[in-house]
Amino acid sequence: MELGLAGKVVIITGAASGIGRACARAFAAEGASVALIDVDNDAGSSLQRELAGGELEAGASCMFVRADITDPTHMEFAVQSVAHAFGGIDIAVGCAGISGPVGVALQEVGVAEFERVMSVNVTGQFLLAQQCAPFLKLSNVGAMVLLASDSSFVAAPGMVPYNASKGAVLQLTRALSVELEPDGIRVNCVCPSVVDTPMARADLGHTSETFAAQKYPVQTAEQVANHVLYLASPVSAPVNGTSLVSDYGYLAQSSFPA
Ligand SMILES: NC(=O)c1ccc[n+]([C@@H]2O[C@H](COP(=O)([O-])OP(=O)(O)OC[C@H]3O[C@@H](n4cnc5c(N)ncnc54)[C@H](O)[C@@H]3O)[C@@H](O)[C@H]2O)c1
Repeated sequence: MELGLAGKVVIITGAASGIGRACARAFAAEGASVALIDVDNDAGSSLQRELAGGELEAGASCMFVRADITDPTHMEFAVQSVAHAFGGIDIAVGCAGISGPVGVALQEVGVAEFERVMSVNVTGQFLLAQQCAPFLKLSNVGAMVLLASDSSFVAAPGMVPYNASKGAVLQLTRALSVELEPDGIRVNCVCPSVVDTPMARADLGHTSETFAAQKYPVQTAEQVANHVLYLASPVSAPVNGTSLVSDYGYLAQSSFPA
């Protein structure tokens, strides 16, 4: 399937690791120019050098801007820099996120921890949308894809802030899709179950090898990137305001004891 992403400009938050990193590689492989946004300067710069050193298609470029997505000044600077360097922005992908407390009972969660998770996972996506929308409007294929989670629909115990934040990302997606539809901008989200990334390894205490031995299925960041690329591509033009759940069918399972 031809995704029509060659020559497009894509800005990706959380691009230095995990799903964001896989998205950056996948968009680059399609011939897009990629702007990597992350708070991790070393990993972001290193990926920029890697992509610029060989994986980019002819005519495509790659840049890295260090930014904390929760800081409006950082985000304004990052988005303006990308639009100026690449002559616009066609696609915005919001991957940056944190788990916050995992396996922590409600009474043990500090207000500051709760607010930090909401700030990165929700405010960061809001700022990305707010800063990018004026540029996406000028594109004839303007699209945003946000990383939500299966935790937008179901909750595991001991992760109250994360679960709350991912529910908010789902509704933020719908709100943005309605808000930006008149400007020709589509907004969708992806909702994966466990993905083998540094975040999930740290949360669950696994390596790639031990993940493979678990009873529950674990997907790869590259699989999620494929879903992101589909939703970002003009191929999915009629798809707007939706959530693509990739959870091996868990959410479809009834509790009926048949
Ligand atoms: N890994 C999973 O199992 C899984 C499942 C469902 C959804 N998700 C979501 O996918 C997204 C990516 O997760 P991942 O597993 O690739 O995580 P990851 O930890 O591997 O990568 C996250 C990246 O975001 C960056 N980041 C964090 N806070 C930031 C900030 N304030 N400003 C800028 N950058 C910041 C980090 O530096 C890192 O490079 C997250 O939103 C996560 O909630 C992950």
